Amino acid sequence: MCGIVGYVGPRSALGVVVEGLRRLEYRGYDSAGVAIISDEGAMQTAKKAGRIENLDAELAELTISGSTGMGHTRWATHGAPNDRNAHPHCDVTGRIAVVHNGIIENYAELQAELEQSGVEFSSDTDSETVAHLVAAELAKTAANGGADDLATAVRTICRRLQGAFTLVLLDRDHPDSVVAARRNSPLVLGIGDGEMFLGSDVAAFIEFTKQAVELGQDQLVEITREGYAITDFYGAPVEGKRFTIDWDLSAAEKGGYDYFMLKEIQEQPTAVADTLRSHFVDGKIVLDEQRLDAGVLREVDKVYVVACGTAYHAGLIAKYAIEHWTRIPVEIEFASEFRYRDPVLNRQTLVVAISQSGETADTLEAVRHAKDQRATVLAICNTNGAQIPRESDAVLYTHAGPEIGVAATKTFTAQVSAGLIVGLALAQARGTKYGDEIAAEFRALESMPEHIAKTLEGIEDVRTLAREIADSKAILFLGRHVGYPVAMEGALKLKELAYMHAEGFPAGELKHGPIALVESGLPVVVVMPSPMGRPLLHQKMLSNIAEISARGARTIVIATEGDELAAKHAAHLIEVPAVPTLMSPLVSTIPLQVLAAEIAQARGYDVDKPRNLAKSVTVE
Ligand code: F6R
Repeated sequence: MCGIVGYVGPRSALGVVVEGLRRLEYRGYDSAGVAIISDEGAMQTAKKAGRIENLDAELAELTISGSTGMGHTRWATHGAPNDRNAHPHCDVTGRIAVVHNGIIENYAELQAELEQSGVEFSSDTDSETVAHLVAAELAKTAANGGADDLATAVRTICRRLQGAFTLVLLDRDHPDSVVAARRNSPLVLGIGDGEMFLGSDVAAFIEFTKQAVELGQDQLVEITREGYAITDFYGAPVEGKRFTIDWDLSAAEKGGYDYFMLKEIQEQPTAVADTLRSHFVDGKIVLDEQRLDAGVLREVDKVYVVACGTAYHAGLIAKYAIEHWTRIPVEIEFASEFRYRDPVLNRQTLVVAISQSGETADTLEAVRHAKDQRATVLAICNTNGAQIPRESDAVLYTHAGPEIGVAATKTFTAQVSAGLIVGLALAQARGTKYGDEIAAEFRALESMPEHIAKTLEGIEDVRTLAREIADSKAILFLGRHVGYPVAMEGALKLKELAYMHAEGFPAGELKHGPIALVESGLPVVVVMPSPMGRPLLHQKMLSNIAEISARGARTIVIATEGDELAAKHAAHLIEVPAVPTLMSPLVSTIPLQVLAAEIAQARGYDVDKPRNLAKSVTVE
């Protein structure tokens, strides 16, 4: 949600900034803009609603040059997504320009104060207040004979702001530096040789440097060609945490695929293998990236899993595994609901917060609530150093690499794998499984990348099927046990990519309402359990297939290879390799990802950038 880029250095700032915005497109946006200070000291801005191509067209009409600048992709919150509300926003004199990600919750009060002093607003955004406040602060300091310093003024204003913000500001009168500040919204700093970068995430500057610095909560940074200085909002110097980015530009490029999502679907064997790597050493599950004592895990008597969207579906699978392997009760909760219903938490509660981005505002607030209630929080996250792992007691990183497609695919299978590792780690700490049983489960997990690769080899048939059913009005998805979260994930993928009505139901619920939706020709995807692993459930699913077939549905059945009964009853059969039940989502989800992507393409939609969606949802 909102992408931010900043640059100071010897290159053309416009080129660096626009390229950075392109790399951040995946975060989701509905308008884009830039501000560049020219070598003559003029503030040059351009902004346009819609895709970056619209901004490109606008820029083609202008001559913008300079080596200090910033850019923004906006995902509208306050004010419609039009040219006027696109960022950057300037103060009335045009000296200060600001871009902002987040929501300034007390903006109405600040705006009223500014309007009383005669400021006329030129947008409907909360962000514009910052440009005017900073300009007013600079004017006040100048009147009192104080230093004309943007960083000092921004620090003063940040102390008045409530809510979430990443701010980047340019000052026409000081063209050699860029100032940025953050609270509850992301910002990283890239260190080049004689140049500095800012980005909502490292993708913004990955082609220029791999050296980065995390900016902490309530911190401000000023960058110049020579270096950077970080302080808190009161001016006290802070040492930023440096890190090296462990992926390269090719990971952020399509590599011959039409869409990032298609590449990312294919990357799942590696994403799962990399996530599992080094978590089983000398016959034991090792959570080496985490800071949790085995004693803490031993004391856990209740687990909550909190997450949103796809991560929630991965969490449901984790629930089934943790309960089965440890006998600890597990509740799963949408992060956005968690803290509002006063859940019962205490020191023996482990909260597992799952988030690919590590930025999701709902999940972050759930983590904060859990910590306030003294629960122990373990994050499962794909983004090094993001806010959620930073605020959690421990983290288990998924190593899926950058995911650019808005719809989560490889990070989902990586999250499922991480959830299973947590289940085994808890079973080990609590002694609910013998060492050899844990070893056997982990070995089975280690063979999953191979099974995923095999599943991917068989997806051509899914593509053909997708084109056949692309005109359907709706598609239903049914599953039982871990097939139920898979059904929900299949439906979510289809909704977000193909804008088609889709629902995932527990198959047993069908008779309690949803069966009324079944009509002649309706495609119904059925995620079958393995007849070997769950014979009873398998039988019941066959009955469900019979019920919907009798009402004219076109059944598309995802079943284990060699499942003759499923083959006999399915209108269309998709086979996946036989694997242990708790690991089966790692293979049965793959055809559903492909189905959604192919249907979306057949309907003419942009698979990587579905409408209205943002990759990182940084507002509640
Ligand atoms: C769906 C999707 C979203 C995210 C959700 C949580 O394809 O990507 O539903 O799963 O917004 O995001 P993270 O995992 O970043 O917290």
